[in-house]
Amino acid sequence: MKAQIMDGKKIAASIRTKIKNQITKITKKGMRPPALSTILLGNDAASHIYIKNKILACEEVGIQSHSFLLPKNTTQKKLLKLIHELNHRSDIDGILVQLPLPSSIQSQCIIESIDPKKDVDGFHPYNLGRLAQFHPLFRPCTPYGVMELLQALPIDLPGKHAVVIGDSNIVGKPMMLELLMKRCTVTLCHRATKNLKNIVKEADILVSAIGKRGIIQSAWISKNTVVIDVGINRIKNKVYGDIDFQNAQKRASWITPVPGGVGPMTVAMLLKNTLVAFQKKYTRG
Ligand code: GUN
Repeated sequence: MKAQIMDGKKIAASIRTKIKNQITKITKKGMRPPALSTILLGNDAASHIYIKNKILACEEVGIQSHSFLLPKNTTQKKLLKLIHELNHRSDIDGILVQLPLPSSIQSQCIIESIDPKKDVDGFHPYNLGRLAQFHPLFRPCTPYGVMELLQALPIDLPGKHAVVIGDSNIVGKPMMLELLMKRCTVTLCHRATKNLKNIVKEADILVSAIGKRGIIQSAWISKNTVVIDVGINRIKNKVYGDIDFQNAQKRASWITPVPGGVGPMTVAMLLKNTLVAFQKKYTRG
């Protein structure tokens, strides 16, 4: 049997519709809409596409976006000054600094400079710490989106063996925490992991977040595994995941396509986090 497809586009569209309706209610009351500031440094083509998609999604649901496109040689001091201003602006609810940043800038310092209450990416140590304690405030958008996909499936998560490939702060580590919060038994694999093949074979749920096409061989995937492909590999203007979709589909029970799987969910969860940042400010202080 062929795996069923987890349609991230469709689920993300329904989340966006709900957000749009909530924002319409807010503005009908005479309040300003939620507002997101996006900051992008440099000319990286992929980052420009991601930011453009985020801004378009904001427009679609009625979130105001304030976009800062800065040159690659912007100093860390200047960037910190901008973030400091945005932290103190009452008309801005969320701040997103697109990663990766140029190597002249210390990303960790920038992430820590964002007010955790405006950290709609969920990357600040405060927000990751809250997730680790299972009391999340803002959850990193990609793992959060993956959990929404998993929760739409007719499967119980507690006790499942989830294998996450990749230990980045953006996806792998928070993904591990999200799955742990749902009482999965989690194995986090990284560069130094030995016997990846044998670990992948044991997975009930497999999440690959490496960004390297073919890193997981389809033959390693056991029958009925739920396969989530977070990888994005641009090759000659085409986008591929980490996993060979056609062959993996013959083994998995459920699988995400690339594109159209996790990507749209990441954007939808960013919108949700921005709405929550707004609501927390105005309804619960
Ligand atoms: N770079 C890759 N993914 C992301 C993301 O979710 N947020 C930000 N800010 N940068 C990224």
